[in-house]
Amino acid sequence: MSHHSQPTYDPNETITFSPALTEEMKAVVAQFPEGKTKSALLRLLHLVQREFGWVSVPAMDQVAAFLNIQPIEVYEVATFYTMFHLQPVGKHVLEVCRTGPCMLVGSDSLIDHFEKKLNIKVGETTEDGLFTLKTVECLGGCGYGPLLQCKNRFHEHLTLEKADALLEQYKNGEIQ
Ligand code: FES
Repeated sequence: MSHHSQPTYDPNETITFSPALTEEMKAVVAQFPEGKTKSALLRLLHLVQREFGWVSVPAMDQVAAFLNIQPIEVYEVATFYTMFHLQPVGKHVLEVCRTGPCMLVGSDSLIDHFEKKLNIKVGETTEDGLFTLKTVECLGGCGYGPLLQCKNRFHEHLTLEKADALLEQYKNGEIQ
């Protein structure tokens, strides 16, 4: 298992940040002292992901140019934090914690179950574009495992039955 998603890279791809995004990025950078603007990197990556739904290599290159730093400095941050999607994702990103405490209470079976149920492997997206399955490190809810995060919502103490019910709720729009 790899800790990182592999960034999708098309050397011919170009990207344009919207004027609104560029203005927001400038406002964030302006909050940092001169010579320390690299500290704005995480916030800029979040803004880019909010606009595009994921963080592509050309987007990272543009962030590097914006901050006047090397692209590798952006790649190493974006590939370290699992909250950044390095390839396009589905409408709902199911992020299952696989760290020790969650593993001890069944996260492995839960991940297997999602793979079978959705007919995808970890890191992949269902054909209908509805779900992406990811595994992540500790989400800070270790006493509530097995734990899954989707957007800003935690789903706790998951059993296989609860997982099935959850998928149905996402599918029929009961949970957005
Ligand atoms: S180990 Fe799963 S939330 Fe901490």
